[in-house]
Amino acid sequence: MIKIAPSILSADFSALINDINDVKSAGAEYLHIDVMDGNFVPNISIGIPVVKSLRKATDMFLDVHLMIDRPQRYVKAFCDAGADLVTFHLEACQPQDIFEAISAIKLCGKKVGLSIKPKTPAVTLLPYILNLDLVLVMTVEPGFGGQSFMNDQLPKIATVRQMINNMNPSCELEVDGGIDPITSKLIKEAGANVLVAGNAIFGQENRKSAIETIRNA
Ligand code: DX5
Ligand code: ZN
Repeated sequence: MIKIAPSILSADFSALINDINDVKSAGAEYLHIDVMDGNFVPNISIGIPVVKSLRKATDMFLDVHLMIDRPQRYVKAFCDAGADLVTFHLEACQPQDIFEAISAIKLCGKKVGLSIKPKTPAVTLLPYILNLDLVLVMTVEPGFGGQSFMNDQLPKIATVRQMINNMNPSCELEVDGGIDPITSKLIKEAGANVLVAGNAIFGQENRKSAIETIRNA
């Protein structure tokens, strides 16, 4: 089953709950929340208090994507704030910290995801894949919404799908960056089952048709 995860980075932050209710009623499965620290990525977005407020305001599944340095310092705080899934970047910390962050998230009873940037090869996921609920493959350089999909990431998505099928079939494969009704078809064919989209959903008047077009492409 394909799941759609609208990224609130492209939503109207002055009327956030309206946008969230809109994509919820349009059938989106996850709500994707991009956390940026101005360090790991060259942009700053939102953090723990916003997740806490959203947890009170919606029952949607909160898919928190941490683009922050040394995420092991903050994963518990995001879990406590109400995230359902906390995904952090493999490039943002050392291997022992990755295991530490995975354990911390699991101890909170939440799902854990690990993300890789476009230049990071699939094989780097191998030591962790058995312990993950989700792998997130970035198809733009993280930091901004509205960028163009990097077609050269498609073989990597297919490789990660193979790794997941062989080692941990219940693990989800999420793709994030430049997803629209054209690229979504290629991404699904490569084996992803969770599609993040910001601009292609919140940039459209009719969110229901935007979501359905991406889902059924
Ligand atoms: C980028 C973020 C994405 C972004 C996607 O660093 O992780 O989630 O919001 O936006 P679009 O779909 O517009 O590329
Ligand atoms: Zn994201």
